[in-house]
Amino acid sequence: MKAVIPAAGLGTRFLPMTKNSPKEMLPIVDKPAIQYVVEEAVGSGINDIVIVTGRGKEVIENHFDIAYELEKILDERGETKKLDEIRKISRLADIYYIRQKMPLGLGHAIYVARRHIGRATFAVMLGDDIIISKKPCIKQLIEAYKKVNASVIAVQKVEKKRISKYGVIEYEKVENNLYKIIDIVEKPSIEEAPSNMAVMGRYILTPKIFSYIKKLKPGKNDELQLTDALKEMLKNHDIYAYRFEGERFDLGDKLDWIKINVELALKGKESKELKKFLKNLLK
Ligand code: G1P
Repeated sequence: MKAVIPAAGLGTRFLPMTKNSPKEMLPIVDKPAIQYVVEEAVGSGINDIVIVTGRGKEVIENHFDIAYELEKILDERGETKKLDEIRKISRLADIYYIRQKMPLGLGHAIYVARRHIGRATFAVMLGDDIIISKKPCIKQLIEAYKKVNASVIAVQKVEKKRISKYGVIEYEKVENNLYKIIDIVEKPSIEEAPSNMAVMGRYILTPKIFSYIKKLKPGKNDELQLTDALKEMLKNHDIYAYRFEGERFDLGDKLDWIKINVELALKGKESKELKKFLKNLLK
């Protein structure tokens, strides 16, 4: 299976940081966010990844490339642990880059990758949604896909007051954590939301989706919405939702970015010092 990682968004909720640097390169402790997404794909058995980028996102390509000078210097200094870690990044997967030349929406971002995807079922992993879980989220979706042999979308319950930030599904339960989607709406108002089950940035899609994206008209925020294509596809094909195990962070959101850094740092080498620091700070 191949994966598409849309990473062309402008990151306007994270300005001024994102004025000249992609939000996908925001550090989470010591790794850029997009490396977590690529590692999630690789950890799920996906080794062919298309990252959909845009102007100013070249630094993403450089991150997954060989860093010749750096590697040479680390080698000469005998810093083998660091060298291994750096080399591993450029060997993670076969990564291809396609540019979305205009920010026309998520549906369009996926559409520009259609020739690379061809006729196979593929994964979509939003570059600004970071999911921390025991089993990689996209692997959980692949397993659900193997059961139902139809498109599967990751969902989680969210507080009603936050529902308008998401695609929201109307559903009926199939079994534990697996639902058949009846309807899907992009960023509904609280009153219009058909449930509190929101779409998180992971999808397994059959290639039929491309013909529905092709017919899309601008939707919410005047963008070509993937959700609208899924809504149309529902008329002819079954689509399922899977309530995955894991914690999801939205990197477009400043508070979520701070939270994930604190949470992961508390699990890392600096945890003891950090705990002391936080305790003092909160006194
Ligand atoms: C996109 C999708 C939305 C989904 C969300 C998850 O919205 O359009 O349906 O719920 O990702 O992060 P965005 O956050 O890009 O506006």
